[in-house]
Amino acid sequence: MNAINKISGSERYARCIQTSKRVNWDIDADIIRGRRFDAGHKFLPDGLSLAEAFDTLSADERRLVSQVQGRTYANIFGLVERFINAKVLELSEHHWFGDQVALEALVRFSDEELKHQALFRRIDAMVGDILPNGYHFDIDPNVVARAVLGKSTWAVLALTLDIELFTQLHYRQSIEPDTELSELFKDVFLYHWKEESQHAILDELELVRHDAGLTAEQRDQAVDDFIELVTAVDGILQAQARADASYFVAKCGRAVDKTEARSIEAAFLKAYRWQYIHSGAQHPQFGKVLSSLITENQGQRIQSALSTLQ
Ligand SMILES: [Fe+2]
Ligand SMILES: [Fe+2]
Repeated sequence: MNAINKISGSERYARCIQTSKRVNWDIDADIIRGRRFDAGHKFLPDGLSLAEAFDTLSADERRLVSQVQGRTYANIFGLVERFINAKVLELSEHHWFGDQVALEALVRFSDEELKHQALFRRIDAMVGDILPNGYHFDIDPNVVARAVLGKSTWAVLALTLDIELFTQLHYRQSIEPDTELSELFKDVFLYHWKEESQHAILDELELVRHDAGLTAEQRDQAVDDFIELVTAVDGILQAQARADASYFVAKCGRAVDKTEARSIEAAFLKAYRWQYIHSGAQHPQFGKVLSSLITENQGQRIQSALSTLQ
């Protein structure tokens, strides 16, 4: 057992507050700093955009793909942070008349997610300034949030843990040496991750706390809910892969036949599944937390559902 596991839950909430105060950043003063995006740069690193999967495209075309994916990255985060923040506010009720340290940690979490949504709205607009017209992201974050919050809290927290863990991996990918990568987008990864690290710890604390109050039957139902949520996320990714592939085909400046268009759409979907599902699901901490709560059979149900999304 390492040191972090020996300290009490309350102390872990307190440490999240301390770190949250220390790393706290401002959208303009720390991230944007008067900069604009440059169409000569990649926005997502190759390891996230899965550049090599776009095997019919030139280097310039792959750069455009990374820019389209960068805009979608901002929109997907803006979307998931809507339901994450609503769930955090809902969970905070359990601490209103109890642990005030835990309550403060969740209030800071919520405040940060509101700031992140504002950041990603700015990034979406700034990328829009340099890309050709015609990009669409038509999924309503409020409609998605209402549907997600209809599922069990256990399932929403498990999905949120998956999401908030993968921001760490995305940041690591972005610091791989790549002179063509946008410095501004690198800062988005860096600063977002700095605050998401605390969120992932709080997700785990709240998931374990909530799990302790469930019966075996409720937990089993929650595992099914989690699988349904991941499948719903995949539906969003499929729709956006279609939209982004057809935008790319319309704007890339050359004729693309149907066969190539299908392979471009498949590559977008592969990249989005990697970015928003598998990179978190494969995170060691995600496996560790989940396997401490569920049975082997439940773990296998989750694994087999994930394996269909390849
Ligand atoms: Fe965030
Ligand atoms: Fe977060």
